[in-house]
Amino acid sequence: MDIQFVEDPIDQVQTPTLAVYSFEGSPATSGTAEILPAPTRALLENLQSSGELTGKAYECTLVHRPEGLAAERLLVIGAGKQEKFGVAHWIRLAGTAARFARARGIKRVTWVLHGASAAPESLQKIAQGALVADYDADKYRSDRNPEKRLDQFDLLAGTLRPRAAETESVRRGRIIAEAQNFTRDLVNEPSNLMTPTVLAERAESCAREFDLDFEVYGPEEIRRLKMNAFWAVAQGSNEPPRLIVVKYSPPGAPPLPVIGLVGKGITFDTGGISIKPSQSMDEMKTDMAGGAAMLGVMRALGQIKPNVRVIAVVPATENMPGGRAFKPGDVITAMSGKTIEILNTDAEGRLVLADALHYAKLQGATVLIDAATLTGAVTIALGDITTGVFGYDKEWVRRVLASAAAAGERMWELPVDDEYRDLYKSSIADIANTGGRYGGAITAAMFVGEFAGDTPWVHLDIAGTRWNYDEKPFLAKGPTGHPVPTLVHLLTTLNSSPGA
Ligand code: BES
Ligand code: MN
Ligand code: ZN
Repeated sequence: MDIQFVEDPIDQVQTPTLAVYSFEGSPATSGTAEILPAPTRALLENLQSSGELTGKAYECTLVHRPEGLAAERLLVIGAGKQEKFGVAHWIRLAGTAARFARARGIKRVTWVLHGASAAPESLQKIAQGALVADYDADKYRSDRNPEKRLDQFDLLAGTLRPRAAETESVRRGRIIAEAQNFTRDLVNEPSNLMTPTVLAERAESCAREFDLDFEVYGPEEIRRLKMNAFWAVAQGSNEPPRLIVVKYSPPGAPPLPVIGLVGKGITFDTGGISIKPSQSMDEMKTDMAGGAAMLGVMRALGQIKPNVRVIAVVPATENMPGGRAFKPGDVITAMSGKTIEILNTDAEGRLVLADALHYAKLQGATVLIDAATLTGAVTIALGDITTGVFGYDKEWVRRVLASAAAAGERMWELPVDDEYRDLYKSSIADIANTGGRYGGAITAAMFVGEFAGDTPWVHLDIAGTRWNYDEKPFLAKGPTGHPVPTLVHLLTTLNSSPGA
């Protein structure tokens, strides 16, 4: 999809669809609808009095041959109540326009810019929203209809003269959306086609394309490195595990901090010997969403080139039952030297993260951020709407939450505290790999935190937010690409000066 600025006067622009938004309560005369010519606004006032146009969030009203405009159609998107409007609305309103149009075979949308929507930060989100919306997880459908994709999403600049800042915003929006869609493609693949080997191959070709350093290690090296916690999970599968390492280190960047991004890469989680019920087990093909997100972030960094050092580590394996599988009661010594009693082989994510975090520290990471589809418990707490955020370092937690707010993604801090530690004590080893049902997202997070040690660390439990279960006006059903935008925002605003 092409995104371009166009400068025609609003009443003269030739387009199949001119898109504006308006707020609930005053739909005919608010938002970007307020710069429509008088006859068009009168038309909207009529629609409002008849009750057809309310401005409720994501409501779509389509008018053919609208009076006062050269456009073939006018699409009015509801923006909801003005006092509730936030940055996520730019993504969602543009996304709604894009999905509404493409579902009807319309190839081009002209999005009206006016007031706040023309600010660079909004432009970035509008471009991002349109591109994220123009995605369906339909790769394996024979009746897939690529012609339904949008060709063009024009930005009607009007009196605004787009300069470098505006053009750069649109470019950023595209990079972030493409990184999200890259992550979504990885998460959407079924586990027979997205093995640890395939995930590593995709990571490698992405690293090559965007000039990032890439390393990958197989079973022998994983064992030689004494990654016994990672290996314990991997040993039950016939698919060889992969430790994927991608590095971004621009020559001019300050030596510190080095951000370690660690993503859970379980390409399929059966639960192992503590096997899961068959109901919804298919969803466990998405158990590598954290790893896929970190690869998406690296892809974006390779293009935006911020002035910061970043190392991504993705431990990729299946979690399978079998003759060689690890078992409840087993004791393993993690790479860090801590001993772990396995009480449940389905608590495998924290095991692979344990060694991957330790490895990231050995590779020089001075700040750790992990993303993992770690617990069902976090979905009980926060649903599929909000990511759980955990960490002892309040400043880094605050930075992540602030980036989420700026990126329009929902995250919420949940507590970590020594008082929960007793829940995962072991009678035989240093710690046990489960802490029971109560506070399950917290004890899982704290287990992972044991391997971050004194290094500042933030954990994102994305078990709920990795997937969109019901199609939304602005987002297809399927993988979300969360939390790529938040992490890209964080890493591109960390060291203010532009990169090499
Ligand atoms: N991958 C799952 C968590 C999960 C659940 C992700 C639902 C996405 C949707 C994780 O490996 C797991 O099985 N966690 C267990 C932990 C328990 C055994 C302590 C869980 O949440 O039940
Ligand atoms: Mn599991
Ligand atoms: Zn899992």
